Amino acid sequence: MYKCAIILAAGEGKRMNSKTPKVMHKVCGKEMINHVIDVMRNADIEMVDVVIGRGAAQVKIGTEDRKINYSVQEEQLGTGHAVMCAKEFLGNNKGTVAIFVGDGPLITESTVRELLNYHEKGNFKATILTSKMNDPAKYGRIIRDENGEVKKIVEFKDCTEGEILVKEVNSGMYCFDIEELLNSLNKLNNNNAQKEYYLTDVIGILKNQGSKVGAFNASIEEITAVNSKVELADAQAIMRKRINRKHMENGVTIMDPSNTYIDCEVMIGKDTIIYPGNVLQGKTIIKEDCVLYPNNRIADSVLDNGIEIQSSVVIESQIGEKTTVGPFAYIRPESSIGKQARIGDFVEIKKSTIGDNTKVSHLTYIGDAQVGSGCNFGCGTVVVNYDGISKYKTIIGNNVFIGCNTNLVAPVTINDNSYTAAGSTITNEVPKNALSIARARQKNIENWVVKSGHSK
Ligand code: UD1
Ligand code: CA
Repeated sequence: MYKCAIILAAGEGKRMNSKTPKVMHKVCGKEMINHVIDVMRNADIEMVDVVIGRGAAQVKIGTEDRKINYSVQEEQLGTGHAVMCAKEFLGNNKGTVAIFVGDGPLITESTVRELLNYHEKGNFKATILTSKMNDPAKYGRIIRDENGEVKKIVEFKDCTEGEILVKEVNSGMYCFDIEELLNSLNKLNNNNAQKEYYLTDVIGILKNQGSKVGAFNASIEEITAVNSKVELADAQAIMRKRINRKHMENGVTIMDPSNTYIDCEVMIGKDTIIYPGNVLQGKTIIKEDCVLYPNNRIADSVLDNGIEIQSSVVIESQIGEKTTVGPFAYIRPESSIGKQARIGDFVEIKKSTIGDNTKVSHLTYIGDAQVGSGCNFGCGTVVVNYDGISKYKTIIGNNVFIGCNTNLVAPVTINDNSYTAAGSTITNEVPKNALSIARARQKNIENWVVKSGHSK
C-alpha cells in the first residue's frame, strides 16, 4: 500500500526563546527535524514532506541533503492548517500518511513500523500513538467513550476539569487514511482556546462519522516533545543514554555514561576505553583499542587503532595508529598526524601533516607545514607561518632534529637528517645532513659585575 509521511515543522517554538527555529535545535549533534526524517526513512517511508513556515529558509538548508519534499504554511494557524498546506503533496494518492511533529526527536524506527502495521492490519482510518503519563502536563488528552474506544482528543487548554485528569495523552504522531483525512480537514474550525485549526479535531470528526479510530501505546520516552530548552536537555539525556548503550553493547568501555557526550553519528571500535568528560562530535570515527583519557573534544575526526589521548581538542583531522596526544594539545582542521607519533602538552598543530614516529613533545606551534617521519621537535619550537598578510609553507624532511626554541620562518625548507641548534631562527633552507646554527655566539665579559659596580 502507498505510504508517505508529513512532518510538521512550521511553528515558531516561542517557548524555546531562541533565534533558531525550534526543529533546528540539535539533540546529540543532529537537528530534531532530521532525527524525525531519518526515522521515517529507516522505517521505509520514502516520500517525506516537511511543512515549513517560521524559519523556513533555515529548515530547508538544514534538511537539504535528505532530499525531501516541502510544503509551505505561510501563517501558523494550527497543526490542522499545517496539514492542509500539504494537500498537494498528498494529491490523489490512496493509502496511509504518517503525520509526525517535528519536535518529537525520540521516536524510534521500530515504533513507527509497529504503528503503521497496527493501523493497516486493524483497518483504522486513523491511529493515534498515545502514552500514559502520571504528569500529562500540556499534552492533548485522549478521551475515550464508555466502551473504551477513542472518542476525541482535547487540547490541554480546552480541557474540562474532568478531562484534565486523563492520563492518556496524544503524542502528536498518527497514521491516517489519506482520503478520510483530506475530507475531515475541510470540516475543521478554530472555535477553541487558541483560535487554531487543530489536527487533533480530525479524530472527533472521524469518530462522529462512524470511521474506525485506533490508539497504539508507546513509551513516554519516545513521545517526549521538546518545547523549551529544559525539555531539550531532557531529550538529550535520553538520546545520550541510548547512544552510549549502543556503543557499550558493541564492545566499547564507557567509564561513566552519564558524563560522556557522543553525537549520534559517531562510530567507535571495540575495546576502546572512554573516561569521563569526553565530547565526541559530528562524523568522528574512533577505531579499536583507543584510550580516551578524561576531557577531550574530538569533532569530525578519524582516530586510528590504539591511540591514546588526554585533555585535548581535535577538529577535522586524522591521527594514525598508536599515536599519543596530549595532555592539552590542540589539533586544528586539515591536520594529519602519522602512526606512532607523539603530540605532547601545549602543542598546537594547524593545517599540517606530521609523519610517522615524529615527536612534538612540548610547547610547540606547527602551522601550514609538511613534516616527515622520524623527526624530533625540541621544546618551544615555533613555525612562523604568518607575516601579518599571508601564510607560508614550511617543509621539513625525514629524521630532522629541531633544537629547542627554534623559530622556522616560512617559507622555508629543512632537508632530511639535518639539525637546527637550540635557539636558532631559521630563515634559509637547511641542506641535508647539515647542522644549522642561527644565533649570536656567546660572549662572556669577565668580571663585568665588579667593574660596572653591580656587586652587592
Ligand atoms: C501538539 C498536539 C497535542 C500533542 C502535542 C504532542 C495539536 C493541536 N496539539 O501540541 O495534542 O499532545 O503536540 O507533542 O496538534 N506546527 C506547524 N504549524 C502550526 C502549528 C504547529 O507546523 O501552525 C508544528 C510545530 O512546528 C511543531 C508541531 O506542529 O513541530 C507541534 O506544534 P506545537 O505548537 O508544539 O503543538 P503542541 O501544543 O505541543
Ligand atoms: Ca509540541
